Amino acid sequence: MIRIPGDKSISHRALLLSALSEGPSRLEGLLPGEDCRSTAGILRALGCEVPELPVDGGPIRVQGLGLRGFRPPGHTLDCGNSGTTARLLLGLLSGLGLPAVLSGDASLRRRPMRRVTDPLTEAGARFREEGDPGCLPIRLDGGELDAIRHTSRVASAQVKSALLLAGVGGGVEVDVTEPIPSRDHSERMLRRMGVQVQQVGSAPHRVVLPTPPGRLDPLEFHVPGDISSAAFLLVLASLGRGSLEVANVGLNPTRTGALDVLRRMGGRISVENPRELDDPGGEPAGDLVVRGSGLRGTRIGGDEIPSLIDEIPILAVAAARAEGITEIRDAEELRVKETDRIRALAVNLRAVGVEVEELEDGLVIQGSDHPLQGRIHTYGDHRIAMAFGVLGALPGNRIEVDDPRVVEVSYPGFWDQLREVRKQPASPGPGAGHHFPRPRPVVTLDGPAASGKSSTARAVARTLGFRHLDSGALYRAAALALLEVDLPVDQWMDRGPEEVARRGLGLRETDEGFEVLLGGSPVSTGALRSAQVTERVSQVAAIPPIRELILEPLRTAASRGGIVADGRDMGSVVFPDAEVKVFLTASLPERARRRILQEGGELSAFRIEEEARRLAERDAQDRNRAVAPLRRPEGALDVDTTGLDFSGQVQVVVDRVREVWGAPLSVSS
Ligand code: DC
Repeated sequence: MIRIPGDKSISHRALLLSALSEGPSRLEGLLPGEDCRSTAGILRALGCEVPELPVDGGPIRVQGLGLRGFRPPGHTLDCGNSGTTARLLLGLLSGLGLPAVLSGDASLRRRPMRRVTDPLTEAGARFREEGDPGCLPIRLDGGELDAIRHTSRVASAQVKSALLLAGVGGGVEVDVTEPIPSRDHSERMLRRMGVQVQQVGSAPHRVVLPTPPGRLDPLEFHVPGDISSAAFLLVLASLGRGSLEVANVGLNPTRTGALDVLRRMGGRISVENPRELDDPGGEPAGDLVVRGSGLRGTRIGGDEIPSLIDEIPILAVAAARAEGITEIRDAEELRVKETDRIRALAVNLRAVGVEVEELEDGLVIQGSDHPLQGRIHTYGDHRIAMAFGVLGALPGNRIEVDDPRVVEVSYPGFWDQLREVRKQPASPGPGAGHHFPRPRPVVTLDGPAASGKSSTARAVARTLGFRHLDSGALYRAAALALLEVDLPVDQWMDRGPEEVARRGLGLRETDEGFEVLLGGSPVSTGALRSAQVTERVSQVAAIPPIRELILEPLRTAASRGGIVADGRDMGSVVFPDAEVKVFLTASLPERARRRILQEGGELSAFRIEEEARRLAERDAQDRNRAVAPLRRPEGALDVDTTGLDFSGQVQVVVDRVREVWGAPLSVSS
């Protein structure tokens, strides 16, 4: 069991807010990294007695000064490398109306500050930029604040928190809107200290401080481990053998995007001993168990970016060792981090032999298992150093990091811990006797019409990070091909197979499943589900040579496992050797009910009876037809879903897979 240092974001906030509180706070598990030392140092310069941050995360007591107790500092406040320190203090000091000068190291003096100073200026604060435009050093000249109302272009917890702190310090209302929710540690902690903070909506997301507090209650807080630090070990273990446990990791949902991505890449990460929330200001946490699985490429982008922005360097490294291509988009924010992380990743990945394309807002990375070698430049960035440290620790690679000390910013002890994890013998874990990575199983789901196969298969695949294989889509594509060449229906049986073979049916992997190719081009779901195709597809499915043609793309798609296939003959004809076979059924009235709802119809006793009769006829036909009659595959688990709701139905199948393959694969959400 590995313990990682405390969460950096939460540690900064715990220090700042306890200094503002009325009375003594007890903080445990604070990150003793350089960034948090910068925050602690500045609080001392403002008159607050903050003890040295213990290297072992042991508890400290901070005697709060209250909202009016800070004194103007006698010198320039040095934020070091810490963007959080600089931006949060710009907010807090503006609110308190304290004159001060904030500065930092060369890297921090290049980072944009106007995203914070502009809305504060709007509310009445006065700043003088004494360095490059928009950058530190910045002099605060005091000034009374009015209510702060701001719509932020980027989802930035630093902007949001800076404005909230300004509101708390200045006793003014705050109303901030951001495009998507950024991490909410400040909101949680303020609530814990007795402050009312409201959150409305998710895209856009609005945070309101309606009544500025007269005082903050002192804090009793245990900072959980930093998921951004854990991510390095999760990737290392996912790409290795054996398993690794990382204790007490913060699992705030605004921060766990990297877990979702790693699971999507095939990572086997589960949460054990989840810590229940005992108060509204609590931070969820738990132990993470990760098993070697190998990883495959994925697409990362859109709304998930804020929840994994700090993990992109290590995800890029994971991508370099994953099977296939990974595309990272919508991450332009990385260009203004401790360094331009998009550039730094592209340059360094290339330097060690990875094929990578640099985009304005991200990267396209080709995974490989070639040995990687070379020297990389950290550009003073801790996360670049650690990401390449992990890449270098993987078997076959030799990577030298030019400035390993930069990890002190967020993860003191990183290199020792990396060595320790590497030399740990691959622990056997619950699947003792098996070698990791174990091949991912093929899961088949068969059943009568309207038993809920395809929606269940899709959800099971998503839960396990497998791909959904919808065999019906291939039959539909074959029907579409025949409709497109205008082959008269009475000739389908004779000439259909050669026409379909001529067009060429195929499947191509996507993130969650497959897209159907006809003549090499993807076919839209709309075209496959059109009324015309739906009307004719059962005729196509009754042509044996066409069924033969469809076997090949299905079996190729499943050749590497990790598939949930649904259809009529998946467990019997197509994948007779599938590791997990399920036969889904439900009572006739229940299937009738589902079919009516699926088609958007009104439920009435009469409609249900009528639909049930239709389904019964269809069942009889399906069971008795000459070609591919419906039957329960040998060895299949019968699942009667009549009394189950959808998530219960998905859970039964997921549990079955876990039972056969060895739990836990991943945590279902
Ligand atoms: O599930 P669906 O509606 O997309 O299926 C389309 C047609 O293909 C339907 O008539 C059943 C048939 N089919 C089949 O015969 N064998 C399969 N494995 C999948 C679908």
